Amino acid sequence: MHLPTIEREHYRIRPWHPDDAVSLVRHANNPELALNMRDAFPYPYTLADARKWLNTLGNKRNDMILAIEVNNEAAGGIGLHGLTDVYRYNGEIGYWLSRDYWGRGIMTDVVDVMVEYAFVQTHWLRLFACVFEHNLASMKVLEKNGFRKEAVHRKAVMKAGKLLDEHLYGLLKENWLARSRAG
Ligand SMILES: CC(C)(COP(=O)(O)OP(=O)(O)OC[C@H]1O[C@@H](n2cnc3c(N)ncnc32)[C@H](O)[C@@H]1OP(=O)(O)O)[C@@H](O)C(=O)NCCC(=O)NCCS
Repeated sequence: MHLPTIEREHYRIRPWHPDDAVSLVRHANNPELALNMRDAFPYPYTLADARKWLNTLGNKRNDMILAIEVNNEAAGGIGLHGLTDVYRYNGEIGYWLSRDYWGRGIMTDVVDVMVEYAFVQTHWLRLFACVFEHNLASMKVLEKNGFRKEAVHRKAVMKAGKLLDEHLYGLLKENWLARSRAG
C-alpha cells in the first residue's frame, strides 16, 4: 500500500524510518499512553521494542502505518490496517500521540486527513476504531470526525489487570462523502 507524506501547518504525516527509534522511545514510553493501547504497545517502551517494531513495518502490505512528526521528531503514529476475506472493504484505524502534544487538536486533524486519504485513495468503504471504555479523548476525536458509536463490546478487553468494555466506532464512506459535500 502506498505510504504518503502529508504536510500540515504544525506537523507532518510520513512513513517511519529506521532512525526514528530514539524519538519513538522518547514519545511512546509513557504509562498513561500505554493504558489506552493494546499490549503490543508496551510500557516501558524500550529501544529494543522500537527497533523490533520498526523492523516489522516492511511486511505489512495491507496496512498504512505512518509517523506523526512534530518539531522534527516522530512523536506519534497512525495506522490503518486493512482487513481480509469478507471484511476486505474495512480498514481499522488506530493512533497515538506523545503526551507532550495532547489537547492541541492535532489528532482530530490527523484523523480528518487520514480518513480523507483512505476514502479517496484506497478501496475501503468502512473505517472503524476500537476504544477502551475510559478513553473519552479518543471517542471525542472520532466523534468530531463523524464516526458513530456502533456497539459496546462488554468486558472484551483485559488491560493492566482490569476487564474493560470496548467501544466500537465506525464511519462509512457514503456518510463521509455526504458530510464532506455538506461542508
Ligand atoms: C487520544 C489522543 C490520540 C488524542 O490526541 P489529541 O491530539 O490530544 O486530541 P485532540 O486535541 O485533537 O482532541 C481531544 C479531544 O478530547 C477532549 N478530551 C481530552 N480529555 C478528555 C476527557 N478526559 N474527557 C472528555 N474529553 C476529553 C479534548 O478536550 C478534545 O476535545 P475538544 O477539541 O472538543 O476540546 C491522545 O490523547 C493519545 O495519544 N492518547 C493515548 C493513546 C490513545 O488513546 N490512542 C487511541 C486508542 S483508541
